[in-house]
Amino acid sequence: PGRQCVSGSRALPQKVKIVEVGPRDGLQNEKTIVPTETKIHLIDLLSESGLPVIEATSFVSPKWVPQMADQVEVMKGICRKPGVSYPVLTPNLKGFQAAVKAGASEVAIFGAASELFSKKNINCSVDESLQRFDEVMKAAKEAGVPVRGYVSCVLGCPYEGKVAPEKVAHVAKRLYSMGCYEISLGDTIGVGTPGSMTEMLEVVSREVPVSALAVHCHDTYGQALANILVALQMGISVVDSSVAGLGGCPYAQGASGNVATEDVVYMLHGLGIQTGVDLSKLMNAGSFICRSLNRKTSSKVAQATCKL
Ligand code: HMG
Ligand code: MG
Repeated sequence: PGRQCVSGSRALPQKVKIVEVGPRDGLQNEKTIVPTETKIHLIDLLSESGLPVIEATSFVSPKWVPQMADQVEVMKGICRKPGVSYPVLTPNLKGFQAAVKAGASEVAIFGAASELFSKKNINCSVDESLQRFDEVMKAAKEAGVPVRGYVSCVLGCPYEGKVAPEKVAHVAKRLYSMGCYEISLGDTIGVGTPGSMTEMLEVVSREVPVSALAVHCHDTYGQALANILVALQMGISVVDSSVAGLGGCPYAQGASGNVATEDVVYMLHGLGIQTGVDLSKLMNAGSFICRSLNRKTSSKVAQATCKL
């Protein structure tokens, strides 16, 4: 009772926490600098839609990711809705300190399961990155700031190709052991299928409890919703997504946006799973950012509804 069943297999969660990454993952790759006011208004509209977590920006080097150079202004400008968290990316201690100074109350560190991706994305090896994250973690513990951990390239790497699930499990376990409350598994280039997702999650969940795992699917190969569904069937109840399907990683060529939040919400509600999100308010946020960027939405649900 209270649990849903799909084809008689594993029970699905009753509730799913959606982590909206549009303002960060969605915008970080935009070639033209998006005005700060537009970013702030997008975050405010997303806050109104009932999303519990909105990743707001990144405290990374402006030389590496110019689009996120206004991180302090964004943090100062948004209206923080009580009960909503607004985490930011912090690759190192410098980023962590700047984030806390700007008022961030939650941060995320981001590592990778692939050496070459780590080098291209954060300019260090996987081991070096874990040392840097350890410093961030210590400072965060002292400051009482919760830390989320990302692992990129969990189902494939743009530079190394196939990535062994054991490598993912190793990095995920390290991040979890250092104190990350949640580990988000990123299919950075969207190459995964329900088959490879299942195989990877089976290996990772031996090291990190599923209650502490999230999936972060890019939709490059159109597999994201199917991959999310198998993750739910395996007991995962945290899903990252991006409004209007915006985005891509600047250090993963060809990576398209994250799965669209509208499409995830539509699927979850169709399965009888609660999200707390008001789909029509979410779609308002999606149409606002698409109008601002002069871009067609990548959300199928938003496209379908527009035609009505
Ligand atoms: P580096 O060049 O090796 O760093 O970059 P450094 O420590 O040698 O410092 C070089 C310069 O950067 C110095 O400035 C530092 O002060 C500055 P200079 O003296 O040249 O003027 N610097 C910073 N400035 C601002 N904030 C900081 C910071 N740290 C150093 N925190 C670094 C290393 C990590 C900084 C760089 O590689 C970087 O910023 N990378 C960010 C890459 C990024 O944001 N990628 C996208 C996010 S990850 C992603 O999208 C994947 C995800 O969505 C999951 C998935 O899909 O898989 C999360
Ligand atoms: Mg991503």
